[in-house]
Amino acid sequence: MKTTLIKPVLMGFLFFVLAGCLGVGSNNNSYTSEELGLRKTDLLDDNVALLGFAYVATPAGEAENIDRAFENAPPLIPHDVEDMMEITKDINMCTSCHLPEIAEGVNATAMPKSHFTSILPKSGVNEVSYTDLGEQMSDTRYNCTQCHVPQVQGAAPMVANTFKAEFRNAQDISSSNLIDTLNEGVQ
Ligand code: HEC
Ligand code: HEC
Repeated sequence: MKTTLIKPVLMGFLFFVLAGCLGVGSNNNSYTSEELGLRKTDLLDDNVALLGFAYVATPAGEAENIDRAFENAPPLIPHDVEDMMEITKDINMCTSCHLPEIAEGVNATAMPKSHFTSILPKSGVNEVSYTDLGEQMSDTRYNCTQCHVPQVQGAAPMVANTFKAEFRNAQDISSSNLIDTLNEGVQ
């Protein structure tokens, strides 16, 4: 009884080991270094020229805002950022148009309330605490381009993306309200 069962099992196992070694059953695909990765050049070649991306050149004030990628995503920068890219805690061109007290006068979108709030996790609970900083921008927000980025024109995606954002309210496609919704679902 014992031997009759073990034999076929052992034979089957040996077959798979042998088949594995010979590559039977697989179509033996392998990839060259040039076929791997997104840049399609030899992976060992460090001299890779960056593609000549053309960033949006429309000056601020003439651009059209871009729809949010998803609800409360940081909006993309729709305008030229030439000469604005030195951003330090003390030097910041972005705030010279986007601070709420200035924005309306230059037709720019005002920085939202979340940027003037200290948002910290409460210890021990799944919640955050808010401290309204008034007109004082939070120290965590001065480096705008950490979250907001300008766009390249007509760049074909290197990997197809089928993600489709769902917005609960139509106005969320073009506006933000994170400060009102941050604790949603955790209370
Ligand atoms: C000269 C004024 C000015 C400066 C400086 C400026 N912006 Fe803007 N920004 C605008 C205006 C005006 C708009 C509205 C669209 C347009 O006409 O360009 C805008 C739009 C935006 C938007 C889109 C807002 C939305 O609701 O979709 C973002 C994000 C943004 N700017 C970020 C920045 C960042 C980051 C900087 C600094 C690198 C910056 N801006 C510098 C005037 C300015
Ligand atoms: C840590 C990431 C982060 C940084 C840094 C940051 N932002 Fe934002 N920003 C966001 C996100 C996320 C939103 C959308 C959600 C929200 O906060 O309401 C947003 C929204 C905005 C909006 C749209 C407001 C609206 O009513 O739709 C503007 C304009 C903006 N930010 C400007 C700026 C500027 C200018 C700076 C730098 C001084 C900056 N942000 C720094 C993440 C950031």
